[in-house]
Amino acid sequence: MTVRQGSDRASHSGAITLPLSEGESLLDQLLRHDVDLPHECEASGACGTCVIVVREGLESLAPPDDDERDVLDKTGSLNPGARLACRATPNGIGRALEIEIECERAPRISAVLRGNVLPVALSARAARHIAQQLAKRGASAAVRLAVRAAGCSGFSYRVEYADRVEARDKVFESRGIRIAVDPESLPFVHGTVLDLVQEGLCRRLRFDNPNARTTCGCGESFAT
Ligand code: FES
Repeated sequence: MTVRQGSDRASHSGAITLPLSEGESLLDQLLRHDVDLPHECEASGACGTCVIVVREGLESLAPPDDDERDVLDKTGSLNPGARLACRATPNGIGRALEIEIECERAPRISAVLRGNVLPVALSARAARHIAQQLAKRGASAAVRLAVRAAGCSGFSYRVEYADRVEARDKVFESRGIRIAVDPESLPFVHGTVLDLVQEGLCRRLRFDNPNARTTCGCGESFAT
């Protein structure tokens, strides 16, 4: 987590680098590292003095609940990335997160927060879905993500449940789920987040893959 304090956003003077943790509010993380963000209600979510604006990586935070939205409305912040730092908590999707903290009552603070970026990560919905599927199979050890040359856009994804991982597999753990990727597929899926989306009566996995330059309409094949 790189934090810049001062009125000149372009300046890197005074920057400090801090680790980003999952499951802890951004306010707690900033305070723990002596970044003096106002928090008049002591993080009870009532005062609105800890408003920040997330410029990039909003999906890396658990979404705001109704109480947070109410307080944000009262602060008059119209920015779609506005969040209460005391309520904004990284949800472990595993992407780099960039935030700018807007605060009129303190020196302006600009921050880049970086967590451990998992090569392949699961959203909370995808993890729940996959955990249910793994539980039905009992012996399954992991979910396997692979890429094959096929499909209307050049490559297609394959997701399978694997009873064992191979010695050559790269294995990652996201939200308690083991994900096995063969070494040939890994460069094509590095940085991918799997989400679960509802389309009509069907649910399907969606691949948010930063390596995909184009993706076919169904989202299951792509080109790099
Ligand atoms: Fe009061 Fe966050 S500290 S709303």
